[in-house]
Amino acid sequence: MKALILAGGAGTRLRPITHTRAKQLVPVANKPILFYGIEAMVAAGITDIGVIVGDTRDEVMAALADGSAFGATITYIPQDAPLGLAHCVLIAHEFLGDDDFVMFLGDNLLEQDLAAFVAAFQDARSGDAPPAAQILLKQVPDPHRFGIATLDASGNVVALVEKPADPPSDLALVGVYLFTPRVHDAVAAIRPSPRGELEITDAIQWLIDEGDRVRCELLTGWWIDTGKLTPLLEANRLLLERIETTIDGDVDESSTIDGRVHVAEGASVVNSVIRGPVAIGAGARIVDSFIGPFSAIGNRCVVERSEVEHSVVMDDSSIVDIARLEDSLIGSNAVVSRSRQKPRALRLMVGDHCQIDVE
Ligand code: G1P
Repeated sequence: MKALILAGGAGTRLRPITHTRAKQLVPVANKPILFYGIEAMVAAGITDIGVIVGDTRDEVMAALADGSAFGATITYIPQDAPLGLAHCVLIAHEFLGDDDFVMFLGDNLLEQDLAAFVAAFQDARSGDAPPAAQILLKQVPDPHRFGIATLDASGNVVALVEKPADPPSDLALVGVYLFTPRVHDAVAAIRPSPRGELEITDAIQWLIDEGDRVRCELLTGWWIDTGKLTPLLEANRLLLERIETTIDGDVDESSTIDGRVHVAEGASVVNSVIRGPVAIGAGARIVDSFIGPFSAIGNRCVVERSEVEHSVVMDDSSIVDIARLEDSLIGSNAVVSRSRQKPRALRLMVGDHCQIDVE
C-alpha cells in the first residue's frame, strides 16, 4: 500500500499568507498542517509516499526533504497546473504502479487514526465482493461546499456529486480516499468538470457506473478542511486540546502558567500569564503579556506588553503594545505594534488581500 499526498494548490482563500507560503505548511499548534498527514500515514504503516507539488514545490520539498525525518520515503511528483484531484492520480500513475493506495488531501486534518480505515479496506479487499475504492464520509452542515454522496438503504454508495447547489444529502467526502489500481481506468476515462478540473468525485462515480463496488466509512471524529481562516483557527484549537504540559524553555518567578502549556526550548516567559492550552515556539520571548487559551505562538516570536488569545502567530513575528489580539492569523516575520505616544492611532503597512477589522 502506498500513499499519495496532495500538496499543490494555490490556497487562494488564505491569502495573503499563501502569497508567500504553501497552504499545507501553515502551522496549527505550531506544526505545519501537512506534517500531521504524513505522520498519520506512517502511523498507519504506509511509508512509501508520493507528494504532488505545484507552484510552492520548493518550500514543500524543503520542509519534507526525503521523508526520513518522518520514517518515510518521499517521491515528489510535480503538477504544472492545478487541474484537479483526479489529474493528480493521472500524473502519479508511474509512482503508484499496480499498488493500492491512500490519497490524502494535504490541507485536511482528521482526529481519528487512519489505520482502522486502511485495515477495513484491506479486509474488504480479501472478502466476497472486493471494492475498487473506499471513501470516507462525514455529516456536515454546509454540504454545498463539498463532494456529496448518496447511499442506498443498505449503505452502499450509489451517487456522488461535486459541490451541489441542491445537496441530495449532508454526507461530505472527506479528503481521504482508498483506491485499487482500477482507479487509473477511471481517471483516464473522465472529462474535465465545468470548473475545468478532473474531479476525483467524477472518477469514483465512473467506477460506480461501471459496476465496481465503492465502500464507505462514516467518520465520527472531527475533520477540518483548513483552507480558510475560521476552520484553521478551529483546527488550531482542536489540536492544542491534545497537548501536554512541557516546559523546555525558561519561565521566570513572576510568571504564571495555567493549564496545559508547551514552552519549547530556548523560549522565555517573563512577568507574563500563560493560560493553556497554548504552544510557545522555540526561542520565543513573552514579556509582560497574557497569552490566552488556544494560542500558538511560533518560533522566535516576540510578544511584549500585549494580550493574545485564540490566535496563530507564525514564526519570527512581533506583537508589541497591543491591548488584545483575538481570533487572528498573523503571518511570519510580521510586526503588529501600537505607538506608545499615540495609542489610538493606527500605523500600518498592509499587503494585498489583507483583512484588518478595527473596532
Ligand atoms: C475537494 C473535493 C471534495 C471534497 C473536499 C474535501 O474539494 O473536490 O469532493 O469534499 O476536497 O476537503 P476542494 O477542496 O478541491 O474544493
